[in-house]
Amino acid sequence: MPVRVGKSVEEAVRWLRRSEPVALPTETVYGLAAPLSSVAAIEKVFSLKQRPFQNPLIVHVADAAGLASVAEVDASAAALVKRFWPGPLTLVLRKKACVPNLVSAGQPSVAVRCPCNTIFQRVLSLLGEPLVAPSANKFQHISPTTPQHVLEDMGEVLPYILDGGPCQFGLESTILSLLEESQPTLLRPGPISQKQLEEVLMCPIRTLQPAFNSPTAMGHLAPGLYKKHYSPQTPLYLVQNLEHFVPDAALQKTFITAAAHIFIYPPARPLRPHEFVLSSKRSLSEAAANLFGYLQMLDRQNWSSLWIEMPPSQGVGQAMRDRLSRAAHFNIT
Ligand code: TXA
Ligand code: MG
Repeated sequence: MPVRVGKSVEEAVRWLRRSEPVALPTETVYGLAAPLSSVAAIEKVFSLKQRPFQNPLIVHVADAAGLASVAEVDASAAALVKRFWPGPLTLVLRKKACVPNLVSAGQPSVAVRCPCNTIFQRVLSLLGEPLVAPSANKFQHISPTTPQHVLEDMGEVLPYILDGGPCQFGLESTILSLLEESQPTLLRPGPISQKQLEEVLMCPIRTLQPAFNSPTAMGHLAPGLYKKHYSPQTPLYLVQNLEHFVPDAALQKTFITAAAHIFIYPPARPLRPHEFVLSSKRSLSEAAANLFGYLQMLDRQNWSSLWIEMPPSQGVGQAMRDRLSRAAHFNIT
């Protein structure tokens, strides 16, 4: 079945109603969607992605009423929904019985978000029920931020990719667990920053730093979050500041031989042909939106290594640092 890339919401919904997963745009990354009521379609999502069943899926709802239909909503959740939905914030809450175990990986919780992408919202409204959607990439590949990325990674196994152009944020949603009432926990940093969440909750948020998915006490909190993730094929080096980086003798050859250098913002001198910039106008959100696209593009070219510098730590920089430290083969910051 040849994949079609198109702009028809109706066609996407036709496939979904036949229990066939399709790729849909969201404001974060492209998702591989299946109706919450179709166990057959949800099983296909796991098999198409080659994803282990112990990784739970995010349920995407149209609004706060959709949230209440799948999860227990407490006052903290209600306040966050009021402030940040629709938008790139996923909440982990106690689930209701209508959420299949396949979605929650057998846990009593469910992750829920309400995308602000208007095309995704039109699909939800025409379909009339929530959609589960992991990122539309094969297991442990880079999340897709354009229809072209989906086509290259999963094109041969999908019936339809709904084209919504490049994703606005380009990084996966922030995931916050509210399971322990007294201890909100940031499971995945994302476009909504820890500081923004703390301002609404008026309490500090715990962050997860240990080796995710190792059998630690924290392991059960974040199934499916891996310490190593999103790695390109080409060796990726993470350094503090590219413009002022001086490699030691052992690394010098690697640093200068057919290596691509990726700056967050332009250096104070003209760019050389092997140098790339994530945001020429010095906007951190533009840099975040371009990050995965640059990694994918450079990984397909013939560079012998990729070198990228650490983004600033404020705002969405925290999420960029998180993704880069998982993607990097060598962290020499
Ligand atoms: O931006 C996003 O969130 C994108 C778009 C498509 O919406 N989706 C996405 O899904 O990134 P995925 O499957 O690639 O990552 C979802 C992660 C899981 O790997 C898991 O770590 C976490 O969400 N998750 C889901 N359900 C959970 C639960 N009940 N408890 C803890 N973590 C959960
Ligand atoms: Mg993913």
